[in-house]
Amino acid sequence: MRVLMIAGNWKMNTTISEAIELVGEMLPGLDEIDGVEKVICPPFISLAIVKELIKGSSIRLGAQNLYFEEKGAYTGEISPLMLADLCEFVIIGHSERRQYFNETGEIVNKKLRVALKVGLKPILCIGERLEENEAGRTEEVVTEQLGSSLAGIDYLGDLVIAYEPVWAIGTGKAATGKQSNETIGLIRSHIAKLYNESFAQEVRILYGGSVTADNIAEFVQQSEIDGALVGGASLKADQFLSIVKQTSEIAG
Ligand code: 13P
Repeated sequence: MRVLMIAGNWKMNTTISEAIELVGEMLPGLDEIDGVEKVICPPFISLAIVKELIKGSSIRLGAQNLYFEEKGAYTGEISPLMLADLCEFVIIGHSERRQYFNETGEIVNKKLRVALKVGLKPILCIGERLEENEAGRTEEVVTEQLGSSLAGIDYLGDLVIAYEPVWAIGTGKAATGKQSNETIGLIRSHIAKLYNESFAQEVRILYGGSVTADNIAEFVQQSEIDGALVGGASLKADQFLSIVKQTSEIAG
């Protein structure tokens, strides 16, 4: 049985004081919802304070990125060792990083390796662009992304995968539950080919892209979808609480 997960990716939003306020608004309600793994991923500079604020609660913490070297002269970067001290999860290979920061499959692979080495749980993002979707290339693109991201990695620990079709991110145009369930099923079959069937059945695969309190149920009701990676709606306490609550009810 895979435990459903809802992760909030705050992206480049919230100052430290806004992050404190947002956590304050969601913490009491979120803490008491069970049956779902609840993760929040604030910006780097708020991780330390948020870690303190959620101490003793059931809320888990994640970062949005990391650098693949452990330390050294890499001005402005954040190392896996710094994060391992602060949080449990790290988002790797988000499409915004692939698109705006030229992250290739090779870089994603290096980041995954180092995250696993220091004991961080990666949330690996994959997903096709609009033109790839329209050209019927979704399966090809996600399997290529999986292949390059996971190349040569034997042990994936508690890896979580997030299928985020790029055309659905921040557009208000979510995929349908049925579409994403099919693609996530394909991703799971590909994981079985790359690793083995039992790992493929264990690994959690989330949907991401314009998830809101109005459409979350459509996704988490699907047999292959193990939760959601939520962007914009994770910045609104009432929306995020509703998303987590509905997921918990469906998890039953
Ligand atoms: P939105 O929920 O804002 O579409 O963002 C999705 C996302 O990119 C989560 O990582």
